[in-house]
Amino acid sequence: MQIQFSIIAAMDSERGIGKNDSLPWILKGDMKHFFEITSKTVDPNKKNAVIMGRKTWESIPVNHKPLKNRLNIVLTRNKIYKVPDEVLVFSSLETALVNFENKNLNVEKIFVIGGAEIYKLAIENHLCQKLFLTEIKNSFDCNTFFPKIPDRFEKVKESDKIEENGVEYKFVEYVISHSQNV
Ligand SMILES: NC(=O)c1ccc[n+]([C@@H]2O[C@H](COP(=O)([O-])OP(=O)(O)OC[C@H]3O[C@@H](n4cnc5c(N)ncnc54)[C@H](OP(=O)(O)O)[C@@H]3O)[C@@H](O)[C@H]2O)c1
Repeated sequence: MQIQFSIIAAMDSERGIGKNDSLPWILKGDMKHFFEITSKTVDPNKKNAVIMGRKTWESIPVNHKPLKNRLNIVLTRNKIYKVPDEVLVFSSLETALVNFENKNLNVEKIFVIGGAEIYKLAIENHLCQKLFLTEIKNSFDCNTFFPKIPDRFEKVKESDKIEENGVEYKFVEYVISHSQNV
């Protein structure tokens, strides 16, 4: 069985996703959306997994990590990187994904949640089937960016505009286009 996964990210008008190792905005509606998409399962006995780069893991406030009700997976090349017992560490995206095939982790869906380095790897991986993107209309002078969306993805869903504290954004979804599946 081959494991598929999705990417979830929020980006500004210049595809910016972060500044100085943190998120440049606070958008409660987007945080709720992120929580719901990454936490919801059809089977109540299963959890979803979230895969992130070491820098993104370190950017999460101590009182919010591991991200609750989800299997947290951190990618690092550091062989002695310390994380809480319930968190898994892998030295590549591929080994993390193979681990789902080899072990019964009771996981329903897998999400790659950033940051820029990991999105870049993930979006080129053929097992990446879906993108959940929050498109923010404003610009935040970011220094890390989401990669260009490959042509094999097509936009299939777009929410109404949401406005929060003067910031306008919408939720969009991309999937692999049908022409790529035939
Ligand atoms: N807007 C959003 O949706 C969103 C989401 C997540 C994060 N962010 C933002 O993105 C920024 C962080 O992104 P980033 O690109 O600097 O860091 P990152 O992707 O979170 O983490 C990079 C680290 O991941 C590890 N890594 C990278 N490639 C690897 C590979 N092939 N195999 C194993 N490990 C690998 C390395 O860790 P080692 O150095 O330990 O080896 C590397 O330093 C922050 O500003 C954060 O707030 C934004």
